[in-house]
Amino acid sequence: MDVQIYQYDAVIVGAGLAGLAAARELTVAGKKTAVITKLHPLRSHSGAAQGGINAALGADDSVELHEFDTVKGSDYLADQDCVELMCTRAPETIRWAERMGAVFSRDEKGDIAIRPFGGQSKPRACYAKDRTGLTLLQTIYEQAHREGIEVFDEWYMADLIYKDGKVSGVVAYDIRTSKPAIFNAKVTMFATGGYGRAYKINSNAHANTGDALSIVARKGLPLEDMEFVQFHPSGLGGSGILISEAARGEGGRLYNSEGERFMSRYAPNAMELASRDVVSRAITQEILEGRGVGPHKDAVHIDLTHLDPSIITTKLPELRELAMTFLGQDMLKEPISIAATAHYSMGGIPVNINCQVRKSPTELVEGFFAAGECSCVSVHGANRLGANSVLEALFFGRHAGESILEVIDSIELRPATQEDAQTMLAELEHIKTNNGNERVPALREELQQSMTDNAGVFRTASSLIKQGEKIRELLARYKNIRIDDKSNTFNTELQEAIELGHMLEYSLFIVEGALAREESRGAHHRDDFPTRDDEKFLKHTYAYMDENYNMTHEYADVVLGKFEVKERTY
Ligand code: FUM
Repeated sequence: MDVQIYQYDAVIVGAGLAGLAAARELTVAGKKTAVITKLHPLRSHSGAAQGGINAALGADDSVELHEFDTVKGSDYLADQDCVELMCTRAPETIRWAERMGAVFSRDEKGDIAIRPFGGQSKPRACYAKDRTGLTLLQTIYEQAHREGIEVFDEWYMADLIYKDGKVSGVVAYDIRTSKPAIFNAKVTMFATGGYGRAYKINSNAHANTGDALSIVARKGLPLEDMEFVQFHPSGLGGSGILISEAARGEGGRLYNSEGERFMSRYAPNAMELASRDVVSRAITQEILEGRGVGPHKDAVHIDLTHLDPSIITTKLPELRELAMTFLGQDMLKEPISIAATAHYSMGGIPVNINCQVRKSPTELVEGFFAAGECSCVSVHGANRLGANSVLEALFFGRHAGESILEVIDSIELRPATQEDAQTMLAELEHIKTNNGNERVPALREELQQSMTDNAGVFRTASSLIKQGEKIRELLARYKNIRIDDKSNTFNTELQEAIELGHMLEYSLFIVEGALAREESRGAHHRDDFPTRDDEKFLKHTYAYMDENYNMTHEYADVVLGKFEVKERTY
């Protein structure tokens, strides 16, 4: 079968805020750009961001304070040059989004309203009620669409064309028909989002299976800082569905089963507004020590009943709706049950300050860019501040578009050949015809449950070794899967099988990176190494995997700057 070859100046995989913002820049500049997404753009996970986007707009706030909070929040692992760039450009990013048409909530004076978020010394999360991501996604999609971006929606990207240190496009298939195609381009950009679905309890969309990470790793390229997984303090009890930090920002208080406002023991100054890693550990500790609420004692309470009800109905309507729908709890009348939930990946595909993908700490890949949650630039280090991810996606998405424009005319298109599609075609054929006895949902469930149990908020060498062995067992069993749907029309069973392969592979990066990092820093907490070790580990992890799933790690210097590395307290 001859595979269709499309030629573009640029191909962008992912249509959330980062992908769309970059695509718009390129299209406005006249570059022929294709956007490939396995969803419709408006179903991208950026739309699930609830609470806000940071920018130092408050009268007593400053860019420098925003930078400081970000670096401190990162437990000093963020690269300070990238943090400075993002925070400096944050106010302009908000104005730009507003000019594009984003309707932000307003304060009494008519200015863009800002609310407090965890780990921030001043209120600085700009918001649109509790639907900030959705508002921005709709706006940027509308504007990118108006400029004529070309979207291949419900297409699944399954391979990267990478040879001799250069990327020249991707291989994908149409989910509607299984028809394959090669997207040959001078520049390829990944903006594919995060990988929270590796965990049983998570706040992520079903689509967040982190495919691009394993696709990159299969080429022998590194992934950076994968051990740093953020657990958001407030996922709805039992499911992990996000209850925005805005609930604490607007004044929500946390209580255990003894009615104690327990954050006073963990973060006496910041209380509920300590940074996410601190609050998630506190909640998990309360539950582990038997002070959880609910029939399984696996949650704590967040109470907003002391607030003026209009705060809930006007600023947090979606959160109220979610808690009523999934738990039957009305936050106007009673506390609701929450627990920590896998939420965000600080690590990812390593990129430089201009979003160009790194082949190693010192070399770049030609023609390859990444931005947003799939990338590691690194502005979040070991722990991201709430409301910095929407900022990162929007700012670095646009910035990637601008960076691409600076180099694209000097890049020669390397023509693709039919050979480039063979790896993907062989993978699809193998999964469809394999006649084993293992089932994808069962293996996925085992992966997710074991990741939550062994590589979650608290980790030890023995839990991580156990999890590494579990993943290797699952990888062996994955070779023996069988799917029943052999059709070419919306074959979601096939897609889920491919996604599971990716989930297993990048989960190994999380676990082995965590095992090698014998310290506690930000979201990575080792019970057996409970303190931070700057001498050995004030470093970024670069991890590489070979075809037998053997991993090697190297460590790269953090870009330090004006903020001295200190002990972190809240
Ligand atoms: O809590 C939230 O609204 C999530 C925001 C974020 O992850 O930045």
